[in-house]
Amino acid sequence: MKNRELQTAWKYHEGTKHSYRSVRSSTHFLDWANRPQPFKIYPAIETIALPRDLLQTGVAALAAISERVPLTGGDAVPDLRELARILFFSAGITRQRKYPGGEIYFRAAACTGALYEIELYVVAGDLKGLDSGVYHFNPANLSLGLLRKGDFRGNLAQAAAMEHAVAHAPATIACTGTYWRNAWKYAARTYRHFGWDNGTVLANMLAVAAASGLATEITLGFVDAEVNRLLDLDTRREVALCLVPIGRTAESLLPVPAEAPALGLETIPLSKREMEFPAMLEIHDASSLASEEEAAQWRERRPAVPPPASAGEVVRLQPLSQEEQPADTIEEVILRRGSTRTFDPAASITLAQLSTILDRATRGLPADFLAPGAHLNDIYLIAHAVEGVAPGAYYFQRERKTLELLKQGKFRAEAGRLGLEQQLPADACADVFFLADLKRILEEYGNRGYRAVQLEAGAIGGRMYLAAYAQHLGASGLTFFDDEVIEFFSPHAEGKSAIFLLAIGKALKRKAL
Ligand SMILES: Cc1cc2nc3c(=O)[nH]c(=O)nc-3n(C[C@H](O)[C@H](O)[C@H](O)COP(=O)(O)O)c2cc1C
Repeated sequence: MKNRELQTAWKYHEGTKHSYRSVRSSTHFLDWANRPQPFKIYPAIETIALPRDLLQTGVAALAAISERVPLTGGDAVPDLRELARILFFSAGITRQRKYPGGEIYFRAAACTGALYEIELYVVAGDLKGLDSGVYHFNPANLSLGLLRKGDFRGNLAQAAAMEHAVAHAPATIACTGTYWRNAWKYAARTYRHFGWDNGTVLANMLAVAAASGLATEITLGFVDAEVNRLLDLDTRREVALCLVPIGRTAESLLPVPAEAPALGLETIPLSKREMEFPAMLEIHDASSLASEEEAAQWRERRPAVPPPASAGEVVRLQPLSQEEQPADTIEEVILRRGSTRTFDPAASITLAQLSTILDRATRGLPADFLAPGAHLNDIYLIAHAVEGVAPGAYYFQRERKTLELLKQGKFRAEAGRLGLEQQLPADACADVFFLADLKRILEEYGNRGYRAVQLEAGAIGGRMYLAAYAQHLGASGLTFFDDEVIEFFSPHAEGKSAIFLLAIGKALKRKAL
């Protein structure tokens, strides 16, 4: 089983670390003339326009990101309008801006470099307004392109070893990653970005589905080759990353898997030339599940790891009360969200605002690899300007809902350095670092644990974005110098690996001229 050959994940992780030296010695450059197209376009398939009058759920964003819809109970079947709402608010175009070389189409969820390498597909039975089939979501014109006619849910259920949520879903969204669209800028580090950028999409998807009363579950336990074949992917270019069953039906007699021959559908090339990065093909292959047995083993959920004892002074979280919480709807918040480009270094946030973000974003993800209360990433932070919290480095004790002081001090310069010498983390009010015990995770989950830990960080980070914007604050994902982050938080963080970084603060208001 390649999934157990753990040196592949270690080799990829070590080989894609950023350091002061690696960034300076990199020979990679941006070839603007060869910039990839932002959309996957099938020029010759039947398309179904999605409804544009997407009614808002009216559910408050802070509730939508943190409350679960149980998988048990009666039927909950989305119609086409609900499905369109989920797709649009996960990956639809929410803003566009011209730049000298063209136009950037910003999407609902944050994405490294605004390169949007995550594609969404739908595998559905008959729904109100949509015939059963396998579809590709095209955000460019808000449509579904028909790839296969008929009910292929049995194929997915089989690929996922009859995972309950997938086997009972009226529709499942499959998320894929397209290497070149992101690797044009980020080279081999793109495989980490797959997890981050898929994660932010999932934060939105789960929230809008929950607000629509539809249960979801992030599913990573599937036979890769089966799903890739069903979606007809050219796997040197694009690969399935996760499945998200949407809603549930009591119907247990799924159709037997249907024949899914190769389609070889034409798509518009992304660039004149594409470069391949063997390190990514290698980690993907080594983290693939080859059989239904492996897929079934994957979802034997590992118990939560007991929290470490607190050694330092602690600050108790004080989230806003129900009455104090903003009621802005999930749709309003997604439309308002956009990464903060300049933080106001003179601004501060309150402990209640920070607590609300941490509390709401970390109440657990519905995922086939997590037992209730379990998580893969540990959260550390540097507080620069949080009222009632001494500036310093902290460890977030989720179970106790406390921040444990690791070292007190003003660390703006250090934070700027850790965040790849950018100004954003230095000017933010707080920087949230996701660190993980990769050794334990890889031993328990195999190489696929590497996908899971990146994805979980992106999804929690995506929820933090939403929780910040729900409170009219700003946020931005960031990249970092891997080993320096661990050194900064050590000895507490010794042996862990840096996974993700998010800065939170207030946007600098431009002065009127
Ligand atoms: C995981 C992640 C890492 C990011 N890293 C950086 C970064 O290092 N520097 C930066 O200026 N922006 C960073 N961004 C912000 C993206 O550039 C931004 O999400 C993208 O341009 C899309 O714009 P929007 O978030 O405003 O919709 C990051 C975003 C994510 C999700």
